Amino acid sequence: MTEVTLSQVVKKYGQHQAVHGIDLDIHDGEFVVLVGPSGCGKSTTLRMIAGLEDISGGEVAIGGRVVNDLPPRERNISMVFQNYALYPHMTVRENLGFSLRIAKQPEAEIAKAVDEAASILGLNELMDRKPAALSGGQRQRVAMGRAIVRHPDVFLFDEPLSNLDAKLRTQMRVEIKKLHQKVESTIIYVTHDQVEAMTLADRIVLMRDGHIVQVGTPLELFNTPVDTFVATFIGSPPMNLVDGVVRQGQITLDGGITVPVPVTAGALREGQAVKFGFRADNLMPVGHAVEDEGAVYELDLPVTLTEPLGTETLLFTKMAGGEVQAKMFNPRPVAPGEQLRFRLMLDKCHVFDATSGLAVRG
Ligand SMILES: Nc1ncnc2c1ncn2[C@@H]1O[C@H](COP(=O)(O)OP(=O)(O)OP(=O)(O)O)[C@@H](O)[C@H]1O
Ligand SMILES: [Mg+2]
Repeated sequence: MTEVTLSQVVKKYGQHQAVHGIDLDIHDGEFVVLVGPSGCGKSTTLRMIAGLEDISGGEVAIGGRVVNDLPPRERNISMVFQNYALYPHMTVRENLGFSLRIAKQPEAEIAKAVDEAASILGLNELMDRKPAALSGGQRQRVAMGRAIVRHPDVFLFDEPLSNLDAKLRTQMRVEIKKLHQKVESTIIYVTHDQVEAMTLADRIVLMRDGHIVQVGTPLELFNTPVDTFVATFIGSPPMNLVDGVVRQGQITLDGGITVPVPVTAGALREGQAVKFGFRADNLMPVGHAVEDEGAVYELDLPVTLTEPLGTETLLFTKMAGGEVQAKMFNPRPVAPGEQLRFRLMLDKCHVFDATSGLAVRG
């Protein structure tokens, strides 16, 4: 029973409120990723769960037990930080066993736990090396191994990959996912990288300014963002947002283009100022589109810049006075200034109220 529950959790640093009464239910064995821009309160939240920060209000429970007043070592959690300091004078084997030795566990049990962690993480060949003789990724695996040997109920990760280069980060991401499949513990993972959040999470918790904006599976956040913040934070490139006004049951975009209201949109008022949103994947040149069911709206747009990515090319175009991005599948070379006919997949478009930023969904 290792669910983690946050009820109205508040953190104040003097006058400054870093976390504003958040509620969150994390299930047993779930991989939850806290994501959001710098300063939104991710690390503070994680550190309150770990017991490294006092809780200014509300309750944190682990496995049904309120832990507000328990010191970190009594919470049966393991934390891996961005700056994992391995002991430089100790071998990998000694680094892995260190916390158990401090806890005065019997040598036989230490050896067993260390061997088990080493084989889960593929460290067997490296056990007698010192950290200086390891690559960045290998060191990161040792840091995770130190967390595993303690058989915690909950793993807490705070940006564990941000010191690694892009390629290694991608590899380690896969390893962390495999690790979760093997150990089946609850994992709470902090990152500011939406790709990491999308690829790792069972559920994403998107935070902003000390509040939770949306909780859901990666695809829920991607397909049904509650507001323009979520729409532009999750997914790459960010969702295109074009200003418009509701006129006679249609949406007139700045610059005069009029598009039908997507069937997914809820009730709109005549004259309502909106942001019309769609992803690059849903605006594709005719003949270079992914076939899809649903309503299509065709329009001509000039291409201003291209970014070939291999299987697809990202096209920058102008629409309603602003820059929007489109995708060309099975790409051919396109010259800047070329006018193309595009297909906009209307059923995949979003409408947000321009004032509140909230999605208007039916
Ligand atoms: N010890 C502290 N004293 C005062 N303010 C703090 C302290 N620690 C964090 N804060 C403030 O609390 C807010 C949340 O900080 P936190 O470290 O949780 O952000 P974060 O989401 O982890 O950001 P990042 O992605 O940059 O790591 C920030 O405004 C930060 O300046
Ligand atoms: Mg942080």
